[in-house]
Amino acid sequence: MSQLLEQTLAAWNPRLTPVQSQQLALELESGKALYFPNLDFALRPDESRFLDPRWSDRRAKNISYDAARNSLKGAFGNAADLGDLKRMIGRFQAQAVGLINALFPAYRSALHVAPTSFRPLPVAGRVSSWRHDDARLHVDAFPSRPNQGERILRVFSNINPRGAAREWRVGEPFPALAARFLPQLRGPLPGAARLLHTLGITKSRRSLYDHYMLQLHDCMKADSAYQRSGPQEAMPFPAGSSWICFSDQLAHAVIGGQFLLEQTLHLPIHAQYDPQRAPLPILEKLLDQRLV
Ligand code: SIN
Ligand code: FE
Repeated sequence: MSQLLEQTLAAWNPRLTPVQSQQLALELESGKALYFPNLDFALRPDESRFLDPRWSDRRAKNISYDAARNSLKGAFGNAADLGDLKRMIGRFQAQAVGLINALFPAYRSALHVAPTSFRPLPVAGRVSSWRHDDARLHVDAFPSRPNQGERILRVFSNINPRGAAREWRVGEPFPALAARFLPQLRGPLPGAARLLHTLGITKSRRSLYDHYMLQLHDCMKADSAYQRSGPQEAMPFPAGSSWICFSDQLAHAVIGGQFLLEQTLHLPIHAQYDPQRAPLPILEKLLDQRLV
């Protein structure tokens, strides 16, 4: 069963009927990536200069723009150029948030908009430890940012000017994935969540949900046989296309490409069209335990 669902939509402010919104949301909430081959993020002519790795400060993998704080991180350049870069990333943020609001009106009042990322460096040839290696199938879970079950919804646009695809692999549906790794998931050490928070390693208290999502992330990435021969399909997202997914639910890996824009939105589970499809209730059922 494919985890990809292609949609012909070609505008950032599509009009859907409530029934269409619900049908599409249930696919997304089942963990599928909604792929929009005709939805392009258009650069202005003077913005094509940003399609160059020289704008990265080389310390961070991504350039990150927090529009609410007007703060740009990971970029290198003079103030005028960086102002233009902020405008480009900010326009993507507005379009990405507008797309989600238009597609899924029920999410609208509950969404929190996170910073926007621009990824000007090539994916291939990155060196990192296995835990940080996004070329391995994983679900997104971040050690320092517990989210107590809130969803990670992401909008991506491949803006490569030379036609290079963003090469992903996507894995099996979340219920099968979680059941597969369940025997390997270990509980936290007593007192660990409090200690991590006191030491400032986590930004808030790590819930059991966050703990088990990190375990799942790590177990997947550490399992070479699973990486090689676990259920997966290749998906080269073409230049000029966009896609969205709950990246805490869809197993994904990125193995190639350059020049990507990404917007993260956080969604409380109660705002889903069907909260039962979220990773939290699925893990709670498998572990027979409340996790937040
Ligand atoms: C990831 O979320 O693992 C990376 C996605 C990408 O950069 O294409
Ligand atoms: Fe990821």
